[in-house]
Amino acid sequence: MALLHLQLDYERFAGDAELPPDEFALLQKAREATGRAYAPYSQFRVGAAIRLVNGHIIVGANQENASFPAGLCAERVALSAVTSQFPGVAIRAIAISYLPAQGNADHPISPCGICRQTLVEYELLQQQPIRIILGGSTGEIIVVPAAQLLLPFSFTLHDLTGQHSSIDHPHQNG
Ligand code: THU
Repeated sequence: MALLHLQLDYERFAGDAELPPDEFALLQKAREATGRAYAPYSQFRVGAAIRLVNGHIIVGANQENASFPAGLCAERVALSAVTSQFPGVAIRAIAISYLPAQGNADHPISPCGICRQTLVEYELLQQQPIRIILGGSTGEIIVVPAAQLLLPFSFTLHDLTGQHSSIDHPHQNG
């Protein structure tokens, strides 16, 4: 038996002023996108903003439904828009923000498991990391440098096609 170890390296910024300008701008777009949420059931508004390598920014917001499981998270709304409108154009980064029903958005939230799975799919396809920028309206900002870091031991397209396993070949940074 071997005891193995996974390490997650990520960045923490104390506030907006510490962020590089392009990442601050993307986070602001995600904050604005919370205004486009359709969230009558949870009242929890999430915004996502994606920067492509060609400079375009695409936003998404969560879209709920009276049939609750039909609802979509902001991240997957934005990702689907990207792959529909800009097929083949790589994603540089996604910023995610939110507004809760009550209280302040004074800390980051992290994407749900289904959205992590979706992010990993597109990251593997494009063969370059997607930076994930997480911030509320105020407070600290967390930047995770690749989607795969948020979903170790993930099931991927490579498993379906019998290629190497992501367990044998965990994401290497850089
Ligand atoms: N939600 C997102 O849009 N993104 C996340 O990462 C977490 C959750 C949405 C789904 C639902 O509309 C509401 O937030 C409450 O779960």
